[in-house]
Amino acid sequence: MTVITSIEDLRVLAKRRVPRMFYDYADVGSWTESTYRANEADFDKMLLRQRVAVNIDNRSLRTTMIGQPVSMPVALAPVGLTGMQHADGEILAARACKKFGVPFTLSTMSICSIEDVAQETGGHPFWFQLYVMRDRDFINSLIDRAKAANCSALVLTLDLQIIGQRHKDLKNGMSAPPKPTLRNMINLATKPRWCLGMLGTKRRQFGNIVGHVKGVEDMGSLSEWTSKQFDPQLTWKDVEWIKNRWGGKLILKGIQDVEDARLAVETGADALIVSNHGGRQLDGAQSSIAALPAVVDAVGHKIEVHMDGGIRSGQHVFKAMALGAKGTYIGRSFVYGLGAMGEAGVTKALEIIHKELDLTMAFCGHTDINNVGREVLLPGPIYADARRTGANDEPLFAASRQSANWGDTAAQVASGSSGLATASR
Ligand SMILES: Cc1cc2nc3c(=O)[nH]c(=O)nc-3n(C[C@H](O)[C@H](O)[C@H](O)COP(=O)(O)O)c2cc1C
Repeated sequence: MTVITSIEDLRVLAKRRVPRMFYDYADVGSWTESTYRANEADFDKMLLRQRVAVNIDNRSLRTTMIGQPVSMPVALAPVGLTGMQHADGEILAARACKKFGVPFTLSTMSICSIEDVAQETGGHPFWFQLYVMRDRDFINSLIDRAKAANCSALVLTLDLQIIGQRHKDLKNGMSAPPKPTLRNMINLATKPRWCLGMLGTKRRQFGNIVGHVKGVEDMGSLSEWTSKQFDPQLTWKDVEWIKNRWGGKLILKGIQDVEDARLAVETGADALIVSNHGGRQLDGAQSSIAALPAVVDAVGHKIEVHMDGGIRSGQHVFKAMALGAKGTYIGRSFVYGLGAMGEAGVTKALEIIHKELDLTMAFCGHTDINNVGREVLLPGPIYADARRTGANDEPLFAASRQSANWGDTAAQVASGSSGLATASR
């Protein structure tokens, strides 16, 4: 492929270059994958309000997430086994983020360790995502290691204490490194670039875990290991304990429900992420973009609301910002870039999204991402009630992010994956 113009181009290239087991690990949802599909499809149901003859010179996408400056409101989501999409994947992605000026989030289940990423990015701050495991000594040590590595936020994931079944992973016998079965060997033989990269690195296991947890030398099947180690007894009390133990900026990941969002506020966390884990956990949950408006309306004035799930373009980021998100995260969009072209591919993914976001903002008559609100949306299945913001009656910019009366939630929340909401016009 000579000219890459979209995240879809990166996906196609990644599919060619990454061993099937790891490509499938990314491009999968749980069970029927209905929520996985809805995450992206629901964005495309939202309609934008084009404006003309507005001065759209000197545009800016700069803003902050949890008080930290970002060149656009997009962070890299934590993705386990990123170092299996491309050799040293976490380090390459973190470097791309450092240059682009957006946050990189390292997963607990990464291949490159916390220390590796810190060292290879010159101590540049990144975010660390924590899974709560039964072994609390290990949690304490992960928190200490993240502090020592200059991590500037802890992202605590709450929606994966048990694992949603992903058929492809079971069928592929997902493991890191891949087991030397005949089927795997035949497939690896078709991925010479990937194999050469892996031969050239020592990082092929779960870097944060292997050698750090007593008795863990080989994690075998990821799902089996997860079900033994992740703590199903996790409650909000543990969140408070972790917040105090960490003492820095805390982001709670995996909120879908308004009631949970209210409980998240009570912990004193700095932000929450409306997320369904990229459709990998509860199949049948509503899409993240459909869940977002109700959460923003309920708690957006008390806590920063971020979102992820299905973002494959700058337009998707724009729509999330219009509904009141203060920041977004990309998972698969950067994973495809990484699998396709390493660090350059992650940079490419960020450039594509930046450009699409910038142009979309301009077409909608805005020059500063911080001023974009619901007035840029037309009524549709996900955002039914544009009239509340005065979109049809008032001049442009009347309803800025800060001053808009976003009203109640009833009219705005679609039934998400099924798209059954009725427009209120
Ligand atoms: C391959 C893969 C691995 C993931 N691993 C983690 C993880 O280790 N920790 C976590 O909190 N979320 C993990 N997620 C979820 C992402 O952080 C994020 O919520 C999701 O990818 C967003 O959806 P998107 O991929 O459609 O952008 C993973 C997602 C994918 C696709």
